[in-house]
Amino acid sequence: MEFQLYATCPDEVTELLAKEIESIGGTNIRTAYRVVYFDASEEVYYKAHLHLRTASRIYRILKSIPAQSPTIVFDKAKKIRFFELFSEKHPVTVEVVASNREGKIPCHLIGSKLREAINDSFQHNLKVTPNASSRDAVVGIAGFFHDNRLTVSIDTSLNSLHKRGFRIDGHPAPLKESLAAALLAVCEYKGTTDFFDPMCGSGTIVIEAAHIAMNRAPLMLRKKGEFGFEYLNDFNPELWHTIQERAREAEISPRVGLFASDIEPEFVNLAKRTAMNCQIEKYIQFNTKDFFKIEKPSDCGTMIVNVPYGVRMADQNVSADFLRAIGDHLKSNFKGWRCGILAPLSAPLKAIGLKPNKQAKFLNGTVPVKLLVFDIY
Ligand SMILES: C[S@@+](CC[C@H](N)C(=O)[O-])C[C@H]1O[C@@H](n2cnc3c(N)ncnc32)[C@H](O)[C@@H]1O
Repeated sequence: MEFQLYATCPDEVTELLAKEIESIGGTNIRTAYRVVYFDASEEVYYKAHLHLRTASRIYRILKSIPAQSPTIVFDKAKKIRFFELFSEKHPVTVEVVASNREGKIPCHLIGSKLREAINDSFQHNLKVTPNASSRDAVVGIAGFFHDNRLTVSIDTSLNSLHKRGFRIDGHPAPLKESLAAALLAVCEYKGTTDFFDPMCGSGTIVIEAAHIAMNRAPLMLRKKGEFGFEYLNDFNPELWHTIQERAREAEISPRVGLFASDIEPEFVNLAKRTAMNCQIEKYIQFNTKDFFKIEKPSDCGTMIVNVPYGVRMADQNVSADFLRAIGDHLKSNFKGWRCGILAPLSAPLKAIGLKPNKQAKFLNGTVPVKLLVFDIY
């Protein structure tokens, strides 16, 4: 069985995600705005949900239909064999987005026609009505409206894939795990050298780095029933189980040092507890320390610093003095290290006083941010 899939991600990440998809065996890979399309065997379809670090969601394309009017949408969509795909007992959501709304039919109208078509498919073929409750929905039908066509898909991830299944709430400004993975990829972190996050907060980046160093599939800790594909009639639990087992057997103990610290003891404690949730606390050395009093823990490695932008994400003030002090501390104490600094785009980044050999822009929530990568000699 061959699947046509697409994975969504921030627009800056599409190339990184395309490489990940290639590495797990996806074919016919094409990037577009905030999306990577690919074809997958059944095995690659499951592997994508378990192994892709930078993806936000994965969708399985059911059909592309003409959508010049709501009536056409209904007529074409009711021929999609929804009744064969999932049980009428599962709550279903329907969401339609458009690439460009101007002069087009409103998305909510297409959405309601799509829902009518799903109902019709069940009523006509099975004489039952699907569960329309949007609470606790486990089947997500997605429509993408573009150029008078509607691509109808199923969201097979259910929860956004940055939700790896181990986070503990408690930090005011945690990064998404998928963004942490993108930062590590830009720094070319492969898990073969030491890693240090000296402003670790809830520990997102160091935990992602640890998972890379131990060759752990990022979604390994999601529980049964937390992926959308598990609710589809063609779910193959044996194959899924085999793929999970293979991934588990491929895990190793990290062969590198992993270090994390923060000036706030409560955040160090939170990061430690989160690492315990993943059973990896023994691999990471945690410390409560001021960055400006820290020496490098080994001769060389990779460090990522997600500088504080204030308690709330919207408070983007990072002073030139603070960035200058970070740059000075790196120059005098971290020779031999590759250092990535993530700060708001609006911050006076030149104050760091080092020439970056790589830069990448991202959105952290709603805040435009930049990762600057320096090799310190
Ligand atoms: C933006 S948060 C990091 C969030 C983290 N990446 C996460 O995903 O949870 C910045 C962190 O820097 C810490 N911090 C601020 N000044 C520091 C300093 N001088 N030394 C060490 N940590 C510091 C704060 O306590 C805060 O947890």
